[in-house]
Amino acid sequence: MGGKRRGLVVDGYSERWLRRGFPWVYPKEVEAGAGAAGRQVLVRSRSGEVLGRALTDEGWIAARVYRHDGGPLDQAWLSGVLDRAADLREELIDDRTTGYRLVHAENDGLPGIRVDWWGHHAVVILDSPAVHSLVGGVVAWLEARRSPRGVYLCYRRDPRDDRDPAGFSPAPGLVDGHEARDEVRVTERGVAFLVRPGDGPDVGLYPDMREVRAWMEPHWGGRSVLNTFAYTGAFSVHAALGGATEVVTLDLSEQALDRAEANFSANGLDPADWEFVQGDTFKGLDRFRRSGRRFDRVVLDPPAFSRGPGGVWSAKRDYPRLVAAAARVLAPRGWILAASNQGEVAPKAFRGHVAEGLKRAGRVGQELHWAREAADFPAGTWFPEARYLKVGVWRVLQR
Ligand SMILES: C[S@@+](CC[C@H](N)C(=O)[O-])C[C@H]1O[C@@H](n2cnc3c(N)ncnc32)[C@H](O)[C@@H]1O
Repeated sequence: MGGKRRGLVVDGYSERWLRRGFPWVYPKEVEAGAGAAGRQVLVRSRSGEVLGRALTDEGWIAARVYRHDGGPLDQAWLSGVLDRAADLREELIDDRTTGYRLVHAENDGLPGIRVDWWGHHAVVILDSPAVHSLVGGVVAWLEARRSPRGVYLCYRRDPRDDRDPAGFSPAPGLVDGHEARDEVRVTERGVAFLVRPGDGPDVGLYPDMREVRAWMEPHWGGRSVLNTFAYTGAFSVHAALGGATEVVTLDLSEQALDRAEANFSANGLDPADWEFVQGDTFKGLDRFRRSGRRFDRVVLDPPAFSRGPGGVWSAKRDYPRLVAAAARVLAPRGWILAASNQGEVAPKAFRGHVAEGLKRAGRVGQELHWAREAADFPAGTWFPEARYLKVGVWRVLQR
């Protein structure tokens, strides 16, 4: 068929979604014109109408649509999209916060491309090498508008994509300017964190949690806190600065704990005054339960999947068990903060996991707060997959 002449032809189902602004075409929706990844194509309906301008891919997405009018993916268009994204962050982010998301992919009109801003460095995060042809323009815009000291490129792993980002080309690394020093100091609402832009996408701080950390600020004072899956200790540092009487920072990774200690120091807190525990969360919770140690606040922010001495952790399977174990080390009327960043777990299902865990421990909970990604991670109405983060705070009571 005349796929070459007509660009990428999609079926009626895809056409309806594209007309609503949805930015993806799936492989099964392509009727003609599929081919190598990274090609710029016009997307057309069966009847030949132009539905957009896209970059093709060969993974679980066949094409990402950038413009719905079919115009060129040139620098004028790209700068307009990036200016609009930057304007939002100027409205949202004050100068007490220097680490944030500048461009949130589909939700800012730039499918497959995220840009995080870390002090004076930018990290461009791609979902696929198929969108790489836009990176030069993003870097040019960053140089013109933001004067970064350095820009890094990296890839993000999507669990739906069976390709391994380790094999993606061009390789991740510095693409403009100078390497950052080993660690760069950024702030989240005035609280300091040391991040490594060259390690992107996971640089040492998850800014999407900023909102729930802000909400918790008045609720740490005079309380004992256990922060599990603590990573570099963002919740711990906030809790300690917020007046917590004790903070236990628990993580499997020795390196993460070293970085958590450094983050305490960066805020004038002496790590020697606080407790850092290397180990498996389940084992730690069990030890605290057996020794009778109790906490007023327990933070649960696990990864989707991990392998540790306590076995394999899978958030989908093990969340109720985790909540039950946490409930057993809570002081009377203590609070659990629980988070899930798995987009495929619906808020209702996640609340169900928490309720089930509390039930197993013979408790019930009162939901005090429900949060989503901070607003620099906006959710486009045209993109149903936008919201991935679920965070709740529950006060736990005896049944
Ligand atoms: C998604 S990060 C947590 C983010 C963190 N809560 C924050 O606010 O920045 C996941 C962390 O869980 C740790 N981890 C993974 N499996 C673990 C386990 N079984 N026990 C304890 N920590 C674990 C990893 O080392 C990593 O630091």
